Amino acid sequence: MQRFVIHGGKRLEGEITVQGAKNSALPILSAALLCKGESVLENCPRLSDVYAACRILGSLGCRCRLEGTSAVICADAPTAAAVPEGLMQEMRSSIIFMGAMLGRMGTCSLGYPGGCELGPRPIDLHLAALRRMGVRIREEDGILRCTAPGGLHGARIHLALPSVGATENILLAAVMAKGETVITNAAREPEIMDLAAYLNGCGARIEGAGCSTIRVEGVPSLTGCTHRIMPDRIVTATWLAAAAATGGRLRLAGTDAASLESVLDVFEEMGCRCKRGQDSLTVYGGCPLRAVRDIRTMPYPGFPTDAQAVVTVPLCLADGASVIEETVFSDRFRHVDALVKMGADIRIVGRAAVIRGPVTLHGAQVAATDLRGGAAMLTAALAAQGETVLTDIRHIDRGYDSPEQVLRSVGADIVRI
Ligand code: UD1
Repeated sequence: MQRFVIHGGKRLEGEITVQGAKNSALPILSAALLCKGESVLENCPRLSDVYAACRILGSLGCRCRLEGTSAVICADAPTAAAVPEGLMQEMRSSIIFMGAMLGRMGTCSLGYPGGCELGPRPIDLHLAALRRMGVRIREEDGILRCTAPGGLHGARIHLALPSVGATENILLAAVMAKGETVITNAAREPEIMDLAAYLNGCGARIEGAGCSTIRVEGVPSLTGCTHRIMPDRIVTATWLAAAAATGGRLRLAGTDAASLESVLDVFEEMGCRCKRGQDSLTVYGGCPLRAVRDIRTMPYPGFPTDAQAVVTVPLCLADGASVIEETVFSDRFRHVDALVKMGADIRIVGRAAVIRGPVTLHGAQVAATDLRGGAAMLTAALAAQGETVLTDIRHIDRGYDSPEQVLRSVGADIVRI
């Protein structure tokens, strides 16, 4: 079992090149299954979830290899339309292979992803949408068996809530379905735009990605292309939080400030200066941090649920009381106990965290509870006095590419053991 040992209290200074986005790489790896020929995904992060997606592609009869910072996928002749149960459990977002398998093979079977560390994670919207597109779905012993007897056809689909995964699954099923699909109340996350850009590069006809209404005109076939994965917004937010919490100054290269406005707003209100460059962002910590107005997590362009845990850390060090209300997931404060153990003053009231500061954080032995909660503990450890031993870091490895190397390059004292 690996762990991080961190000696905190060092100001982080220097430049970090932000990795490619996990939440973009995963659906695009799944989309590569739809294409004949080779797809080259540049800026593909090295993450355990990416390795799991590659193993799923391999189990479906595709070739997927990681070369330098690219992933190269050849899906000329898939041989299976079933995701093995072990792989399904390894990566909960493997549900996005459903739309891709249906689009390419017209059939699929895969395990139910079930609940996870953020609370129940239903897929009712995915299933209802696919049914409208001609898919028959039955559940046997926890396995979803899907067929499309008359082939997939386009449909008008209104999502009761703008689910990212459901929007992606519908796009994957729609790009080669017969006729037009119109999704209303679609998720508007930048990662949806990235997926659509890749698919359009392969010959798909998708219009309106990034807006609430997306139109897809089905095409007979797709051919792989070269695509550069967008920068990771949440990793950017994590390094911003680390700079703010350690009073440091970081230039984040290869990132896109425009997709982070709701997060940058909060850092600026806290008292950090954020300088937006063409494809970079520089954050100047070091000023006394202030509490901020209430934050509510919301679908894009609102404040991202994935960033709430890491933003909590500088708020612990800020003067006054801040409130973060979590509206997207029901159980997303599991990192709070560890932060309290490290000296934070946080109280959970219903779906909100009330954070009072400033406190002095101190090192402790803590275990990552989930991906972003683990990132929050890592951020707290960087700011804390003394030594933190952070265990269960497999959660962090799902979304952060070599975080200890990145952090060491800007002055952190962190080792992986
Ligand atoms: C994606 C991201 C995740 C992020 C989340 C919200 C990936 C791989 N993961 O997850 O990091 O936290 O978006 O920005 O991209 N819901 C239903 N029924 C459904 C589908 C969703 O009730 O059929 C609910 C969920 O329980 C949740 C909310 O909708 O409360 C948002 O979920 P969704 O946008 O689907 O998140 P994911 O795609 O799972």
